[in-house]
Amino acid sequence: MTVISVIIGSTREGRFSEKPANWIFQHLKKRQGVEARLLDLRDFPMPFFDQPLTPAMPGRPAFAHPIVQKWTAAIAQSDGFVFVTPEYNYGPPAVLKNALDWVYPEWHRKAACFVSWGNAGGARAVQQLRENIVELQLTPIRSSVHIPVTTLMAHYTGGDVDAGLAELDVPAAGPMIDDLLWWTAALKTARTSAL
Ligand SMILES: Cc1cc2nc3c(=O)[nH]c(=O)nc-3n(C[C@H](O)[C@H](O)[C@H](O)COP(=O)(O)O)c2cc1C
Repeated sequence: MTVISVIIGSTREGRFSEKPANWIFQHLKKRQGVEARLLDLRDFPMPFFDQPLTPAMPGRPAFAHPIVQKWTAAIAQSDGFVFVTPEYNYGPPAVLKNALDWVYPEWHRKAACFVSWGNAGGARAVQQLRENIVELQLTPIRSSVHIPVTTLMAHYTGGDVDAGLAELDVPAAGPMIDDLLWWTAALKTARTSAL
């Protein structure tokens, strides 16, 4: 079984993010051989990173914080990721960046893609995240889903968010998941080979 985790990148009250997260999660659940998991950062209320040793320090002991340990285990158990992220001031939310920063080897050599939204489809946040995750030795794939601002605004005006997301099923979600699963399989094979 291939484990793909959908990470909900915002935690604020009234957030839009759980709608696209659930939408892409349902798509993943329909794929054969995939165990889809939803990782909500509200369930992982970690402090801002404050440790004397960096996560990348070779041979460091596990961080003691129990929620960080739970988060690290969830990343270790995953083969690939969908980051579902808003754009906050042209970048990803601090809560998501902090969640990235707490973990290091458990992210390595796994594929990741993005679902985002905002005035420019969240593209600026995704661009920053692409650069961040390369340092974590994650592999950002080419495809991503950028939700149109009309669908985001439907969330705030009582409009039909589900209908807006459904328009992205075939042109955006399907190809992105295809691509993610290809890269996830390739990297999983390479990780488990003797190379
Ligand atoms: C602190 C903050 C900064 C924001 N900055 C941007 C931005 O730079 N670009 C943008 O398109 N939207 C921006 N927005 C608007 C968000 O796209 C919108 O609030 C969206 O609903 C956020 O996702 P969420 O509801 O899941 O938190 C910002 C929102 C917040 C709360």
